[in-house]
Amino acid sequence: MPAGNHTLTVKNSLGCKGTLVNTINGYGAKFFNVRTIINGYCGPCHLNGGVSGSKNFDADDAVVANWDRIKARAVDNLPSQMPALPNAALTAQDKQKITDWVNAGHRITD
Ligand code: HEC
Repeated sequence: MPAGNHTLTVKNSLGCKGTLVNTINGYGAKFFNVRTIINGYCGPCHLNGGVSGSKNFDADDAVVANWDRIKARAVDNLPSQMPALPNAALTAQDKQKITDWVNAGHRITD
């Protein structure tokens, strides 16, 4: 299904109708993981309007545009770890998920 809002209407045997609007975000499985990781680890500094280091990751496009810096800071800890200390670093599994997304082409659809 293409990205966008999709409306599904169902009618039961009594004629009652129900409507469900399902937003298909167009995320690939690997980007979904990365979006989830960023939402979990990178706030409030880079989320909900936060602009630490001049970086805000509210928009998916911003995550895509900064894929190399996200990998450098959150996976390779270069030049220093993100999330910034004293926050905990990503788990090895979460680092691997970012690496997998980068290697797949670092797109929203990957
Ligand atoms: C507790 C606040 C905090 C959290 C949480 C945090 N950061 Fe940062 N981030 C900063 C600060 C402060 C700077 C600016 C100083 C610096 O670059 O070290 C920064 C800068 C950055 C930069 C820009 C500098 C560069 O090297 O390109 C990137 C990219 C970045 N962070 C990625 C992330 C990612 C990805 C996460 C989540 C996995 C994250 N940060 C979590 C505080 C935070």
